[in-house]
Amino acid sequence: MDPRAERIYAAADFLKQRIGGLEPEVGIVLGSGLGKLADSIMNPLVIPYKSIPGFPVSTAIGHKGNFIIGELGGKCVIAMQGRIHFYEGYPMDMVTLPIRIMKVIGIKYLFVSNAAGGVNYEYKVGDLMIIKDHINQLPNPLIGPNLDDFGPRFPDMTRPYDLKMIARAEEIAAELGIKVHKGVYYGGTGPTYETPSEYKYIRIIGGDATGMSTVPEVIVARHSGIPVFGMSVITNEAHDDYAEDFENNGHDVVVAADAAADRMCSIFKKLIESL
Ligand code: HPA
Repeated sequence: MDPRAERIYAAADFLKQRIGGLEPEVGIVLGSGLGKLADSIMNPLVIPYKSIPGFPVSTAIGHKGNFIIGELGGKCVIAMQGRIHFYEGYPMDMVTLPIRIMKVIGIKYLFVSNAAGGVNYEYKVGDLMIIKDHINQLPNPLIGPNLDDFGPRFPDMTRPYDLKMIARAEEIAAELGIKVHKGVYYGGTGPTYETPSEYKYIRIIGGDATGMSTVPEVIVARHSGIPVFGMSVITNEAHDDYAEDFENNGHDVVVAADAAADRMCSIFKKLIESL
């Protein structure tokens, strides 16, 4: 068997044994500073990444390293408290391993979240953006021999983010009185934040928010036909002007994400309820 598949099935078998009879229907990836959504999960079973055979460990700030299985919005969910980033030095099959494990476990939907820089001039710190599409500037995680058990060689990307879930999330946000944007997420490698010219470039090519994650996970989920819903928390605004009094840093990003986490969490919860 392909060693990548062996690793996926071994980790999935381990997790299945640990979760007993539970059958998570929704997978959730919690981005920088958003890990506290996991506190809303009822009857949580916590499984540290480091206990799972072959599993990479998240080293990024604002990321714990646990799967949390429990109930949210009346459904059984499996949440990743902390994700694996390409900039940490892991190859793409490790960055996306958790998604494939969750696929084998049987998830029917994937929810992704991240902290992102606002590139669209309308976006302010603390705003939420529903991801309607992405631009991938990371290496494609499907490069290499295709894992036929998981999906086709040339996956369609016409609807990367599920249109029904987007529409429902917009209704939910309106009902809850939460302002949301809907835009395009640009995924770069990091770990540097963008230069002023790079922020301009992202805006010109159609990006509304930029970050260092999410796209590989979404590509791998879509490869396996899993419908995806995603949201970004805008944690900083793009500076095009070589400002002398501004600096991007990881700490401020985590603080801003934490402040918006409750709003994102209520939308996720209601959307899960409505599935
Ligand atoms: N750029 C890239 N990644 C990010 C940013 C940003 O401005 N903010 C949070 N993650």
